[in-house]
Order: sequence, then C-alpha cells, then structure tokens
Amino acid sequence: MAEYRIPFNKPCLTGSELLYAAKAIILGHSAGDGSFSKNCHTLLERELAVSKVLLTTSCTHALEMAAMLLELGPGDEVIVPSYAFVSTVNPFILRGAKPVFADIRSDTMNIDERLIEPLITERTRAIVPLHYAGVACEMDDILEIARRHKIAIVEDNAHGLYACYRGRYLGTFGEVAAQSFHETKNITCGEGGALIVNDARLISRAEILRDKGTNRKQFLRGEVDKYTWVDIGSSYPMSDILAAFLLAQLEKRVEILNKRRAIWNYYDRHLGGWAQDHGVQQPTVPGHCEQSYHMYYLVLPSCEVRQQLIEHLKERSILSVFHYTALHASSMGLQFGARPDQCPVASQISDRLLRLPFYNDLTEEDLKLIVTSIREFKMALRPASTAGSLYALNAATGTSASAAIAAAEPVTSAR
Ligand SMILES: Cc1ncc(COP(=O)(O)O)c(C=O)c1O
Repeated sequence: MAEYRIPFNKPCLTGSELLYAAKAIILGHSAGDGSFSKNCHTLLERELAVSKVLLTTSCTHALEMAAMLLELGPGDEVIVPSYAFVSTVNPFILRGAKPVFADIRSDTMNIDERLIEPLITERTRAIVPLHYAGVACEMDDILEIARRHKIAIVEDNAHGLYACYRGRYLGTFGEVAAQSFHETKNITCGEGGALIVNDARLISRAEILRDKGTNRKQFLRGEVDKYTWVDIGSSYPMSDILAAFLLAQLEKRVEILNKRRAIWNYYDRHLGGWAQDHGVQQPTVPGHCEQSYHMYYLVLPSCEVRQQLIEHLKERSILSVFHYTALHASSMGLQFGARPDQCPVASQISDRLLRLPFYNDLTEEDLKLIVTSIREFKMALRPASTAGSLYALNAATGTSASAAIAAAEPVTSAR
C-alpha cells in the first residue's frame, strides 16, 4: 500500500499505553475483566452516569449482544439508517431479524426521524439510530416514536463517545448502546468496544450473554454457589491487556478531544469560503448537539468531482477517503427486499461524501498543506455534473458509481 505524507488515519498514543499494557501482562491477568477492565468500566459508568458498561471485543460484538438481549428473531423487523456501517445491521440479521432501511437527513447524515414512523409495522421491534460523525440523531423525536409504539432503541454510538444531545451524553438514550474503540476511533485500543446497558432489567442477562451463556459473574460475586450454563451466549470480554491500553487513552480524553476540536475547527474555518464558492457542503452541527469531533467531511457536487479531488490530494501525498456505501442498495440489502431507489439521500451521500485526514497528531503544518491543496483544486474546470447526472450515471450503469470506484481504488475507503 502506498505511503502518504499525510495518511487518512494514524493511531496516536497518549503516553501510558505501553506502561499500562506491560503492567497488565506482569500482573498475570490478561484475560477479560481484570483490574484495568474494571477501571475502564468504573470510569465510563461514572462519567456517563449509566448503570452498566461492559467492555467487549468490538462495537460489532456489543451490537450482537444488543440483538440477543432484545430477543430478536425471525419475523422481527429492525429500522436502520441506510447510510451506515455493515455492523449497524449485521448483528440483527445474525439473529434472523429483517432490516428495514430508512433514509437519512441531508444535513447531519443521520437517520431522518421524519421517515421512521411510516416504516413501523406490527413486527417492528427496534430502531437503531447511528450518531454519524458523533453528531446526535434527533433523539427527542426518536424516543417519542419508540415510546408510542413500544419499540426498543439501540444506539450505534461508535463515533460519538462524549458527544451530547441537549446536554445528555449519547449512548444514554437507548435501552442499550454500543461504543467502538477500533483504531480509527477517537479513543482506541486497536480493536474493542463496549455495551452500555441503560435498562437495569437487562444487566444481569447482558453479563451472562457476554460470558458464554454462564452465570460466572454471579458466581464470582458470591451470589450463586457454582456457575453453570444458563442461557445462549458467546465470548465477548476484552482482554485486560487491551483494556490497559484503553484506560491510558480514556484518562487523556480531555486532551484528545481538545486536539480533535482544534483540527475540526481549522478545517471548518479555512475551507468555509472555498466550500461556499464551489457548492461544497460542510458538516452541520445543530446548536443543541455537542459533537465528538470524530471526523471532518465534505459533500462534493458529484461522484466524479469527489474522485478527482481524491486523486488531486493523492498527487500531493494526502489520503482522503469516501465512506459508507448505502446499505439498502448493496447486494445484501436488496436480498432483504430493499428497492435500489428506496433511500435517495443515502445514495447521494454515499457517492459524494469525502472524509479528510483526521487524527490527534495532525499538525498545523499538515492542516495548512491539506487546506491549501484543496483550495488549489480546480473544480471550475471539472465537469459541472450535478446530483441529477449522478443518478443518470447510476441508472445507466445499473451500479452505484461509488461501488465502481471502490473496486478500482480499494485504499480510498475507510470505516
Ligand atoms: C457506525 C459504526 N458502527 C459500528 C462499527 C463497528 O465497530 P467495531 O470495529 O468496533 O466493531 C463501526 C466501525 O467503524 C462504525 O463506524
């Protein structure tokens, strides 16, 4: 893979990761739920003011636990945004549930809360709001819909740790929520996640599902005199070596957030005039949302222009990437009965959104180079294609333009 002067992502250490990981190894408890895991649990539970946090091997696995906890199965339907990662939906399909794809808002890229209710049937069991880029979905409306129809909410908060909606932390709204600590996330340990259990009635079963379907946790607390197989389950605890790495990062969360805020603000300020002049959309962060500064993206006028900008930046050794391909129009989405034209905004954004390099240690010099390079991009000379021509392209080829580009340029997509 090509080396870039400015890569898209670079995992950044904060200082104590190696020391803590070494301690975890020396302490001799490298399996899950050792002292470092417990410290992560306590820190997150205290800060987010939630009943239970359980570290997991990934956000994907936390979502699998969510699907089991809600006892989803064949015949059940789950409403998911089409513009999402595969892990937002796969955990529910693994239980036999059917995904029902909702389109997104063209400002925040979040599930469009106005489109949820028409998708609800007597089979709907859950809504999965994904807080894209760590900017909250419209949770007041979504909570009200869920309450009225007695449907559960599972938050996919992979991007949004420490972001808020009307002053309340994301991940605290749904019955359960899932976090990611994958190396691309703000706070990381390489691979990892967490399940937040907000509904206290689900806590003891969550512990059991996470521990191979056994009541081992209750046994360790002295609540039962032996431990045994009591339910379905799998093996989801994070190794304490990774939890040690994670604790080092969690302890530096304020520093990490400050660095990311500065990077996001730099992009937003310095690209503002250029974006306006060229019909490029910058991110929207509603006033009642405090974001997590997870990513900075631009929505280009067309798929072709996006690809040209990717190439232009590559020539300057800068890697920018596109993001999700709309799930409803994927081969799996179609197998579940989705129509290719079901979520037009998701299709558009899938073709036009570009993510700029974003990691904690991006320097001002790097940022200057990225911004200058973008401003040098001669968009006026490019085909003035529009959303309309993009659809024409898709219709003519019968495929998504972004999928075609993804096939040609595998390194330009990232999660
Ligand atoms: C929205 C979303 N959900 C879930 C995941 C899966 O996270 P993990 O890699 O921790 O399983 C990702 C990963 O990038 C994501 O972006």
